[in-house]
Amino acid sequence: MRVLSGIQPTGLIHIGSYLGAIKHWIELQEKKECVFFIADLHALTVLREPKTLQKDIFELAAELLAVGLDPKKCIIFVQSQVKEHTELTWLLNTITPVAELERMTQYKTKTKQFKKNVNAGLLNYPVLQAADILLYQTNLVPVGKDQLQHLELTRTIARKFNQRFGRYPPAGPIFIEPKALITEIGAKIMALTEPKKKMSKSFPKSCLYLFDNPKIIREKIMTAVTDPGKEIKYNLSKKPGISNLLTIYNLFSGRTIKEIEKEFKGKGYQIFKEKLAQLLIKKLEPFRRKKKEFELNQAFLEKTLEDGRKRAQVIAEKTMKNVRKKMGLSSF
Ligand code: TYM
Repeated sequence: MRVLSGIQPTGLIHIGSYLGAIKHWIELQEKKECVFFIADLHALTVLREPKTLQKDIFELAAELLAVGLDPKKCIIFVQSQVKEHTELTWLLNTITPVAELERMTQYKTKTKQFKKNVNAGLLNYPVLQAADILLYQTNLVPVGKDQLQHLELTRTIARKFNQRFGRYPPAGPIFIEPKALITEIGAKIMALTEPKKKMSKSFPKSCLYLFDNPKIIREKIMTAVTDPGKEIKYNLSKKPGISNLLTIYNLFSGRTIKEIEKEFKGKGYQIFKEKLAQLLIKKLEPFRRKKKEFELNQAFLEKTLEDGRKRAQVIAEKTMKNVRKKMGLSSF
């Protein structure tokens, strides 16, 4: 049972990515074979400053380790360091209909958002993502809800590839059809500024970052947009703001939403927000401390990513050898 997932080095980790995905990665590394990576190639689909990309990659690596990814328990590496990702992307491109890519929600949103840079990479983005997943014979992909459509496409591509090339020697399917692992609560944390929109790195003001300092955490929570009325009650359609804050409270405290509603009955938004800010400041403190420690140890970060690359490479090479044979690109 292999688990795989990735995150782009476009800005730091916010509580949406943490609660929707990374928290589960940390739990899964205890019981499954896990592969996690920094998706730097995906990040190039929006304009990047080459001078800062390396710094961003290492900072993200430090954050991932600080929140609990453990290189002794999982493989951590940088996507562009394993060349098989781009090779498989090209091969999968040749069986993926353009129309399937054009209907992807993320593609439609990004083409609107980055009107001046609608590059072919934005369109082919999900094919690279499919290659990431299929290369490692992945069974489970822990992600937030926004990635579900890309996962469905990955399954379609795997099926199509197996049908088309599976009969060539050595006979048998080439890829495993992966399943998305999406939790019921926390799979879509909403923006603090606009609770009907997803918290997203593309809109930094919407985010509470895991490594924000206590003053900023407090400011962001106290000014988070809430709903008319003053009752602390979970109701997604009528009270999206409070429901989002209740979800965050629930996931950081481990207490059920019902229990939290009961505690804050009749107390109003102000007191609830104050307590939530205190909870977050306390829970996120160890992360901030550990990030600083990892950032001071560049040699350790480099070694971790290099060790991860070597281990990932072994799995990726094995898959590609088979793929090349099946497609007639090599005879051995
Ligand atoms: P990225 O970098 O945008 O986000 C990383 C992970 O965080 C989840 N996430 C959220 N979950 C809940 N609420 C939110 N507001 C929220 N915002 C982000 C995302 O769903 C994701 O799981 N394309 C991917 C990276 C990628 C990948 C892959 C993932 C590349 N190849 C292969 C899985 C498998 C992305 O941009 O994630």
